[in-house]
Amino acid sequence: MVCGSRFLINIANTFREHEILLTGANGFLGKVIFGLLVDRYPDFKHLHVLIRPREDSSPQERFEREMLVAEPLAELVKRFGVSRLVDKTTVWGGDAADPHCGFEESDLVSLQGRIGLVLNCAGLVDFFAPLDQALRANVYSVQRVAALAQRLDAKLLHVSTCYVAGCADGLVEETEPILGFYPRRQGSDDGRFDHVQELSECRRGVEEILQSKHSDDELESRVRTKDQLIASGRHRADKWGWVNTYTYTKSMGEQVLADIPDLDFTIVRPAIVESALRFPFAGWVEGGRTAAPLVLMALGGLKDWPVRRDIPLEVVPVDQVAAATLVAGALLLNGEHESVYQLATADINPLWLGELVELLVDEAEHLTKNGGSAARWLDPLPRLRFLDKEQAHFRKRQFERKLRRIDGLVASIQRRLGRYGRSPRSTLTAWRTSLRTLELQLGFREQVLQQYLPFIYDHRYIFEARRISEGYKKISTADRELLCWSPEKINWDSYWRNNQIKGIRKWVEPEAVREWNFRI
Ligand SMILES: NC(=O)c1ccc[n+]([C@@H]2O[C@H](COP(=O)([O-])OP(=O)(O)OC[C@H]3O[C@@H](n4cnc5c(N)ncnc54)[C@H](OP(=O)(O)O)[C@@H]3O)[C@@H](O)[C@H]2O)c1
Repeated sequence: MVCGSRFLINIANTFREHEILLTGANGFLGKVIFGLLVDRYPDFKHLHVLIRPREDSSPQERFEREMLVAEPLAELVKRFGVSRLVDKTTVWGGDAADPHCGFEESDLVSLQGRIGLVLNCAGLVDFFAPLDQALRANVYSVQRVAALAQRLDAKLLHVSTCYVAGCADGLVEETEPILGFYPRRQGSDDGRFDHVQELSECRRGVEEILQSKHSDDELESRVRTKDQLIASGRHRADKWGWVNTYTYTKSMGEQVLADIPDLDFTIVRPAIVESALRFPFAGWVEGGRTAAPLVLMALGGLKDWPVRRDIPLEVVPVDQVAAATLVAGALLLNGEHESVYQLATADINPLWLGELVELLVDEAEHLTKNGGSAARWLDPLPRLRFLDKEQAHFRKRQFERKLRRIDGLVASIQRRLGRYGRSPRSTLTAWRTSLRTLELQLGFREQVLQQYLPFIYDHRYIFEARRISEGYKKISTADRELLCWSPEKINWDSYWRNNQIKGIRKWVEPEAVREWNFRI
């Protein structure tokens, strides 16, 4: 198709010509990318998915259970035809952080030149994971996936996050150079951050922690090792200005890619990925990691919010992220790509936190009045208060004091039990159970709020998302309709009431709702 003097990219043709390898296919975003490809481009050439084996299930079993018959995709799979889909999809077992991502040499030989695009959607979305795990999922696996793409003569689309920007304030541009970036960088001459050196320091630090003996008790030693690995990630991220280990390691994953000569790649950086606007159906969400705790806290009656009203919350529906990712993949396959695409909404259609919190509290009141399940937790009705930073810190100190008191109490119980000759194991189990219960009841809300402070109080992020809109101008009108990217059209009030809140209440583990029984 011709528009003026330009040819518009035909995505159906692109996906008919190139096989795709998708990692992280069974994750939240991966499932929607998979579903959209199958639904919108049923003539796609062939899809390969990489899934890790679990102790209790093979990759093939996980593919069937977590994708083919899972609620968000089951209807689509039935419509498409299970056997047709199985014919067009190959499931590979492997860990992306292993050499060749677990592919055998013979498989590599047979796949070389066949796969046009590796779409790397694998990652660990845990703000404060132990450093070794975060590095494995968000850095070493990126190295391996990139090496695999090169070995297969394929191009690489890597899913990162807008929040690699770290402690930014204001507009975060897409043109910031990737290599050598760190959030506290003082201009382009500042060469203090070198990801190679940083990674070698990380490795040394992790080794030291893993080799030290933290306690004679095996379980306690494991707990302490894990705590130290978490603290180490937090410390290193903080030193350079990243707000958590997740974004620190994701940034290093990007830098690893940018440092590989001759790698044909693009990076897609979504902001906070939330429930579906329309596909697979309105409100579908999984995992409950990002906005879910905030919603559940509001429904649970939280009335004191450490939130700056004038900060936009950078949320994007998962189906729009998946659509834009497929478009970026097609642009890459056609050599029409940029190095980075940010997928965010606030530069064009901001959702202000003040309005959002008011909406959440309003919805909680509405549910209470109408006898919805929020009524079980909501007593009395919340009176909304926005806290400033000092008040928020006071809450934090209060919470830490509470935890210390609990710790002291448990330690003294432990000593007493010891005196009565109870085995350390049962003592420890009792300790952990008590602490867990108390922590959940008293502290979960505070912990969550602390983790969210960078996004709801400390930093005012507005991510530039100009390139993806420019990219959409290069694809055909039909493709623009099939793969919708329209942040400017999202009605946030309706989205939060009808998609987010309903979706989170339906799809986020009821178990979590029971555990997060917040009483204010
Ligand atoms: N969710 C968000 O708000 C958000 C926002 C911006 C960017 N992102 C990025 O989007 C991507 C997908 O996120 P998501 O929300 O879909 O996360 P998710 O639901 O936790 O899915 C992560 C996927 O990655 C796989 N994975 C992790 N480590 C792997 C490894 N070593 N080898 C093979 N597979 C591995 C997981 O497999 P298992 O099932 O075996 O664990 C899972 O399929 C991530 O890269 C994330 O950083 C997410």
